[in-house]
Amino acid sequence: MQTPLLQVKHISKTYKLNKGWFKRESVEAVKGVSFELNRAHTVAVVGEAGSGKSTLAHLLAGELELTSGEILLHGQNLATTERQQRCMDIRLIPQKPSQSLNPRQRVGDQVIAPLTMYRTLSQELRQQKLISTLRDVGLLTEHAEYYPNMLSSSQRLRVALARALIVDPEVLVFDQTLSAMDVTMRAQLVNLLSSLQQSRGMAYIIIGHQLSMIRHLASEVLVMQHGEVIERTTVATLFSEPQTDYTQRLMHAYKELTQGSS
Ligand SMILES: Nc1ncnc2c1ncn2[C@@H]1O[C@H](COP(=O)(O)OP(=O)(O)OP(=O)(O)O)[C@@H](O)[C@H]1O
Ligand SMILES: [Mg+2]
Repeated sequence: MQTPLLQVKHISKTYKLNKGWFKRESVEAVKGVSFELNRAHTVAVVGEAGSGKSTLAHLLAGELELTSGEILLHGQNLATTERQQRCMDIRLIPQKPSQSLNPRQRVGDQVIAPLTMYRTLSQELRQQKLISTLRDVGLLTEHAEYYPNMLSSSQRLRVALARALIVDPEVLVFDQTLSAMDVTMRAQLVNLLSSLQQSRGMAYIIIGHQLSMIRHLASEVLVMQHGEVIERTTVATLFSEPQTDYTQRLMHAYKELTQGSS
């Protein structure tokens, strides 16, 4: 049997809070979460506020240290992978990607910045990579000369995506990235992400409640509550037979919304 691209094994994260002299409290934000993800597949993560979704995203992207458990990519434990490489393999796209852009720096310089880690890459190759990545996300070569405020919000999201894609990641994690978008932008993004997934074989982890997007992009859904995965299901089953109280409420709200808007 082939090794899955990503294997998450019983990972946990406990935040330790200093509450003054001798007083220490801790929050178990993620508790024993396990799942696997194959190349060119998408898993969605849903759950109420504070259920541990963002903590999970940061653990996967290596921005937080695990309290216990392990994450393997191509069967290799990421704890043994060099940090720079690891940051390129799994990239996190935050909730408001345009806020991660520097308003005073040209788009091209910002997209190319993660490539500077590849010291061996010539200036010419970097430039070629910049142009092809801008094209991949539906931007023009000329956009490299623009500043972020000269672009629409949809274009700024594409810039953030290009910044992640330029280092050829294997996994992209979207932490509620899609929640602030209007319907047209979401539809554009679903198309863009699907075609990028087909051409590059990347795996996606999509965190959020945009069920219309989850329906189009994901094959599996993990439901989190109090740091644990309480339901793991296919997208089809989520829509036809939600198991837990939480997913039943989620589906109910979704049906009201879609029936109300039709
Ligand atoms: N840096 C931190 N220090 C201490 N506790 C934290 C920290 N970050 C998150 N928490 C706590 O960990 C738990 C999980 O938080 P997390 O942000 O991962 O949830 P979430 O599912 O992303 O929530 P939301 O839907 O509101 O984004 C919460 O109880 C939160 O208060
Ligand atoms: Mg969050």
